[in-house]
Amino acid sequence: MNGYPEEIKGNILIVDDKLENLNVLESALSEEGYEVRKAINGPMALMGVRADPPDLILLDIKMPDMNGYEVCSQLKADAQTNDIPVIFISALDEVIDKVRAFTIGGVDYITKPFQFEEVLARVENQLTIRNLHKRLQEQNLHLLQLNQELTRSNKELEDFTSVVSHDLKQPLQVIIGFVKLLGIKYLNCLDAEGKEYVAQIAKAATHMQRLIQDLLTYSQVGTGNRELKPTDCNTVLTQTLADLQMVINESKAVITHQSLPTVIADELQLEQLFENLISNAIKFHRPTEPPQVKILVERKNGEWLFGVHDNGIGIKPQQSERIFQMFQRLHSEQEYPGTGIGLAICKKVVECHGGSIWVESDPNIGTSFYFTLPSRSITESHSVG
Ligand SMILES: Nc1ncnc2c1ncn2[C@@H]1O[C@H](COP(=O)(O)OP(=O)(O)OP(=O)(O)O)[C@@H](O)[C@H]1O
Ligand SMILES: [Mg+2]
Repeated sequence: MNGYPEEIKGNILIVDDKLENLNVLESALSEEGYEVRKAINGPMALMGVRADPPDLILLDIKMPDMNGYEVCSQLKADAQTNDIPVIFISALDEVIDKVRAFTIGGVDYITKPFQFEEVLARVENQLTIRNLHKRLQEQNLHLLQLNQELTRSNKELEDFTSVVSHDLKQPLQVIIGFVKLLGIKYLNCLDAEGKEYVAQIAKAATHMQRLIQDLLTYSQVGTGNRELKPTDCNTVLTQTLADLQMVINESKAVITHQSLPTVIADELQLEQLFENLISNAIKFHRPTEPPQVKILVERKNGEWLFGVHDNGIGIKPQQSERIFQMFQRLHSEQEYPGTGIGLAICKKVVECHGGSIWVESDPNIGTSFYFTLPSRSITESHSVG
């Protein structure tokens, strides 16, 4: 743990101008398995520490030329040596300025004549703290590196997704265009099977187009190239409902909502969030009942808590984490069309705005999607009705 062979417990530098003190401490500590070095004055100690930093320093206060306080101050002023713990040594009859000793960075003190058990306990204590501190620093550094690596690889993946989806759009557009032409111009040359093939190609190509568009949207959320500004959620919802008008009419969905607040957000991304949650609520309705969707909001713990509630087919509790992952769908494309990216986009949008999203559901009764958005003072301007 401390980087030494098991029998060596740590490297200790003793600084004292009196040889008998040095020797007595050296033998006691060596016997306990410590590697001991000695210095008989301040300048020697500083040189030795800089050349080869020890794990701990036992430092006499009263020394000619340079006293222990000065040595300690110099060590603490140097970034190379300032984390080495210093235990001061003072004679019982000396007045030790404890406040000064701790202020300049000493961690403890021992008094002469030495009580060896006490000296050993204090030394061991400081070395344990130092080792724990070192380990914590190493772990922090490791976490920092992992975090940087993760950020970098996420960014790489997003760039890759963005470039690939962008480049795929064009050739796919060509395929869709020619399949349409084939269907129009050569329809009469094809038998029923041929027509079916053309229809299947057109369907798959359109699905792929959606997939690519959704991937592109996903990769663009959180890239920081859009501006967050006060955004009225009522306006966003009105626009979303207008975009969904056809599906709403076809499904005879009834959508109700409270008056919504203004939040600091990217308007387009909020629209993507509302659109996917509402279109899901409509899409996953029970065949026996037209969809009823309620959008509610309340202020809770300094945040806005939105709820999108439906009376649809529901989700089993064990699936409630999975659905927020990319491409995770609980039904086949034939049962309910979709790419399985919608909720992954919702999660990314909400998290990029500093909120969180989750689902609560009762199979065959309905589903509630909840998400939070930070509320700032500007959001006060709209009351919830
Ligand atoms: N309101 C809901 N009621 C029941 N199941 C839902 C609801 N919303 C989502 N799900 C389930 O979660 C899955 C993932 O939803 P998501 O919106 O990510 O994908 P999708 O709607 O299938 O496709 P996309 O939104 O990408 O077109 C859905 O396929 C569905 O199984
Ligand atoms: Mg969806």
